[in-house]
Amino acid sequence: GGRVRTTHLRRWKQEGRRWAMLTAYDRFSAEVFDEAGIPVLLVGDSAANVVYGMASTVPVTVDELLPLVRAVSRCAPRALVVADLPFGSYGASPEQGAATATRFLKEGLAHAVKLEGGADMAPTVALLVRLGIPVMAHLGFTPQSEHALGGYRVQGRGDGADRLLADARALQDAGAFAVVLEMVPASVAARVTESLEIPTVGIGAGAGCDAQVLVWQDMAGLGGPGGPRFVKRYADLRTPLLQAARDYATEVAEGTFPGPEHTFSE
Ligand code: KIV
Ligand code: NA
Repeated sequence: GGRVRTTHLRRWKQEGRRWAMLTAYDRFSAEVFDEAGIPVLLVGDSAANVVYGMASTVPVTVDELLPLVRAVSRCAPRALVVADLPFGSYGASPEQGAATATRFLKEGLAHAVKLEGGADMAPTVALLVRLGIPVMAHLGFTPQSEHALGGYRVQGRGDGADRLLADARALQDAGAFAVVLEMVPASVAARVTESLEIPTVGIGAGAGCDAQVLVWQDMAGLGGPGGPRFVKRYADLRTPLLQAARDYATEVAEGTFPGPEHTFSE
C-alpha cells in the first residue's frame, strides 16, 4: 500500500497492533528501514550526538537538521517521516514553532514534526495542527531540557506521575497524533497509554506503550558497548565496519588492492 499516515497509527492502537519507530538521518538508513517495514522514521535532534558528535542535543540547529530531513524524506517511499524541532526553534511562542515547523515540511519534505514539552506546549501544538502540521509530542525525560532537569533522570516518579498524565492529556486535546514517553517508569507509561486515544511511543518506558523507538546506531550497535539501560543492540555493526576499514587499509599498504578486476586496461 501507500504512505503510512497518522490515521493508520490511531487505527493500529484501536486494533492493539504495536509498531516500531527508528531514527534515520541519511539515504541508506532511510532506505533500509523503510524496506524493513518500519512505519515511522524520526529524523531526531539526536543527530546532534550521532551525526555531528555534539555532547547534547542543545546546540544543533534547524539549518543542520533540514538537509538530513530532506534526505530521509527523499529515500523513504512508505514511512511517515517525522522531523524533530531542535532546542531554541519553537519554545518561545506558538508563532515561532509554526515558522520552524513550516520550514521542516516545506524545505525538509517532512510529514510531521516532534517537539518536547508538556501542557505549556499545548497552544503551540494546537496552532501547528490548525495549520495542517501533524505533531508528535515528547514527554518524560526531554533531552533538550537536560540542564534544567539536572541530567539524565527517570521522570514521572511519585507526584510526577499525575503531572505526566495531565501533560499527555493536554497534548492529546491540543491535537497531537502521538506522544513519545522517554525514561518513565513502566507502570506510569502503561497508565498513560491506557488513558489516551493516541499512541504512546516508549523509549525506556516499558512494554506497555503502543510503540517503541530507538536511535538506529544504538539499535545496530554502531557505538559499541555501553550506553543507556533502555537500549537493546540487535546487531554489532561497529565490529565488521572496523574490520572492513582495517582490511582495506592493510591491502592498500600491501599493494593487493586494487586487483586486476578493479583496474581498467587501455
Ligand atoms: O532525537 C531522538 O532521536 C528522539 C528519540 C530518541 C525519541 O527524540
Ligand atoms: Na529528540
